Amino acid sequence: MDDKRTEIRRIIRDTKSLPTLPGVIAKLGSMAENNAISVHEMARVVSSDQVLSAKVLRLVNSAFYGFSGRVSTVSNALILLGVNVVKSLAISSSIFEIMEKNVVGLWEHSMGVAVTANVMAKKLKLPEPEETSTAALLHDIGKVIIKIKLQEDFDHLTARIGEKNLMMIEAERELLETDHAEIGEWLARTWLLPEKLIEPIACHHNVEKSVVHQSKTAVVHVADVLIKASGFGFSGDDLVPMIQPIAWNKLGLTEALLESIIEEVEDKLVEVKNFSLEIQSGDEPKT
Ligand SMILES: [Fe+2]
Ligand SMILES: [Fe+2]
Repeated sequence: MDDKRTEIRRIIRDTKSLPTLPGVIAKLGSMAENNAISVHEMARVVSSDQVLSAKVLRLVNSAFYGFSGRVSTVSNALILLGVNVVKSLAISSSIFEIMEKNVVGLWEHSMGVAVTANVMAKKLKLPEPEETSTAALLHDIGKVIIKIKLQEDFDHLTARIGEKNLMMIEAERELLETDHAEIGEWLARTWLLPEKLIEPIACHHNVEKSVVHQSKTAVVHVADVLIKASGFGFSGDDLVPMIQPIAWNKLGLTEALLESIIEEVEDKLVEVKNFSLEIQSGDEPKT
């Protein structure tokens, strides 16, 4: 019998063909940033699936990016956000559709971290805040795979977390010989996402491990801690980890900066909650 890691890697290889992922995603999967694919060609592929493009536009216009309702076409989204972000959003909207039904708490957690990361990246004047929000939106994507593909293991994890008062990631390492950060990394590689999205997903629990995109990773890490501390959403356990000193220093954070970030995030979380409720109520976006 396969060991656990091999089993999970096999599941991820097969995830490309998850029945819930529309065919468009498979096509997008092969469109890496540096393939000479024009914005026009990519817009055509996304737009060929009306429901998907409506969902992508809804995410683009949500509180995560701060465009609030101004992006009306997939081409515009591609020009404003770039191929990688739109590709990731197409993937996110499909994956989160599964999450909405199964794990609302994790979906809200992910959206909360995305908004917080966006506020932080802008406040700290970091480059590519949209890429950072997108990485934040996907940071716990490995947990979705555990939840939907390893249902039995997920139940064991939940029981273990309750019994021993562990963080989810600790329970995963004990039971799965890997964790959701590594599973998320495997998944992101399968989808050919760029390194600047992969690193924050892979290293958000260990910022030190991130070498090339450490600022983005640090932002996602701090945003994750802040959202857990705020009690918004549910990521799988109730423990709030410490902000890693390497992340604090890398971003040049101060108590005052952190407070002003938290203040700004608090207002936006109301919007995120409404967005989540709207999605759960089953309103299909207008196409
Ligand atoms: Fe995580
Ligand atoms: Fe998280």
